[in-house]
Formats: sequence, structure tokens, C-alpha cells
Amino acid sequence: MSISELELIIYGAGGLGREIASMAESGCKAGRDLPRWRVIGFVDDTPGMEGQIVHGIPCLGSLETVAAARQGQETFCHVAIGNNEARKDAAARIEGYGWQPASVVHHSAYLSWEVDLGAGSFIGPHTTISPSVKIGKYVLINTRASIGHHVELGEFSQVSLGASILGHAKLERGAMVGAHAVVISNVTVGAWSTVGVCTPALRNVKAGSTISLPLAQVLFQRNVLPDADSPS
Ligand SMILES: CC(C)(COP(=O)(O)OP(=O)(O)OC[C@H]1O[C@@H](n2cnc3c(N)ncnc32)[C@H](O)[C@@H]1OP(=O)(O)O)[C@@H](O)C(=O)NCCC(=O)NCCS
Repeated sequence: MSISELELIIYGAGGLGREIASMAESGCKAGRDLPRWRVIGFVDDTPGMEGQIVHGIPCLGSLETVAAARQGQETFCHVAIGNNEARKDAAARIEGYGWQPASVVHHSAYLSWEVDLGAGSFIGPHTTISPSVKIGKYVLINTRASIGHHVELGEFSQVSLGASILGHAKLERGAMVGAHAVVISNVTVGAWSTVGVCTPALRNVKAGSTISLPLAQVLFQRNVLPDADSPS
């Protein structure tokens, strides 16, 4: 192992875990001014996962098993669980075993030097994070999201792919902003609330509520499809 790398365990061998593992392979940073991670394995509580190879990486077993095996060893772990509430519960469990929450920052993300990044957070590829932004612990900021200046992202909150959070907006703890949604300046998205996919949050969103654009309507229906004669 090179001296500039730290070993990393990823908690969750599902879709997000694979994405983060694959990003780590292509050169994720541990965080500004920190070494790179080297993923040594997944932890996953699903029965039967122990010993499986997921995305070329071994699944070491359940958290309980792996924590017992690594007792006394310094362990960095990234919780790769997309559901904010489940991520909160998993975070409490890893910290209960004395593991350290590890942030993962993709090398293509742009972060101002003036960003306060909480431990255990993920910053995906091609994300832009402006100056004076505060990011709490275990925040998930997905691919191509844009975070404006003076934004606050509370712990366990999430900004999905392509979403924009404009200057001085705030996401309270556990808030979820869906893919390609926009939260405009000075708006607060309340704790554990959801802004639906492609939805603009133009006013404050009350804690625990879900807002969304209406479902798209069918405009017309073709009677004959171009490949109607082709065998299916
Ligand atoms: C708005 C949203 C949160 C609703 O999801 P949900 O809470 O799982 O709700 P469901 O899809 O189960 O729908 C619940 C009900 O609301 C209705 N509903 C859902 N979205 C609606 C909409 N946009 N307009 C009108 N009704 C809607 C459903 O038809 C359903 O009605 P029913 O109970 O009568 O059948 C979801 O559509 C969304 O936008 N999620 C964000 C996804 C995302 O960006 N993920 C990021 C991954 S990177």
C-alpha cells in the first residue's frame, strides 16, 4: 500500500455502494488535503453476502462480524446508503463500533477552498460547490449537482443528481432534493422533507412534507409503432 492511501470500507454493497467503489478506483480523494482511499471491502448486513465479490471487491460480512474482526484497528468507513433515514441509522451503528466516518470526494468535483465539509459525506463527479458552503455529516451530493454560495446542507441531507441549490438556501437535517430539482435562493427545505424530481422549491418547505410537480400527462398515443411488423 502506498503511503498516500488510506484503507476504506464501504457500508452497503448495493447500487450506490458500487458507484462509490468504482469512483474510488478512478481516483476519489478522501477530502481536501487528505490522501486517497483504497477500498478494501464492503460491509453488508444482507444474509448470504459474506464472501461474495461485488464489483471486484470482497464483501467482508455484516457490520457486526467485521467490527468484531477489526476490534482495536482504526477503521474508516463510508456509509453508501441512499435513503437518508437508513443512512442515519447505519451511521449511528458504525460510530457505535468506534469507526470513523469517511468522506469521499470525486476528483472531478469542484470545491471552493472555503467549504466546510462534514465527515462521512459524498461529493460526486462534476459537482460544483461554491464558497462559504456548510456541509454537515453524512450528506450525499450526487453527480453534476450545483451548490451555490452560503448554502447550508444539514446532516443526512441529500442533493440528487443534476439538482441545483441556489445561494443562501438551506436544507435541514435529512432533507432530500430529487434529481434535477431546484431550490431557489433563501428557501429552507425543512427537516426530513422531500422535493420531488425536477421540482422547483420556490417557497419554504415545511418539515416532513413532500412537494412535487404534477404527474406529466400523456399528450397523444400513436396507434401504430414503426416496428409493429417486427417479431418482438
Ligand atoms: C414525489 C416523490 C417523492 C413521490 O414518491 P413516493 O413518496 O415514493 O410516492 P409514490 O410514488 O409511492 O406515490 C404516492 C402517491 O402519490 C401519487 N403521486 C406521486 N407523485 C405524484 C405527482 N408528481 N403528482 C401527483 N401524484 C403523485 C402517486 O400516484 C400515489 O398515489 P396513490 O397512493 O393514489 O397510488 C417521487 O416521485 C420523487 O420525485 N422522488 C425523487 C426521486 C429522485 O430524484 N431520486 C434521486 C435518486 S439519485
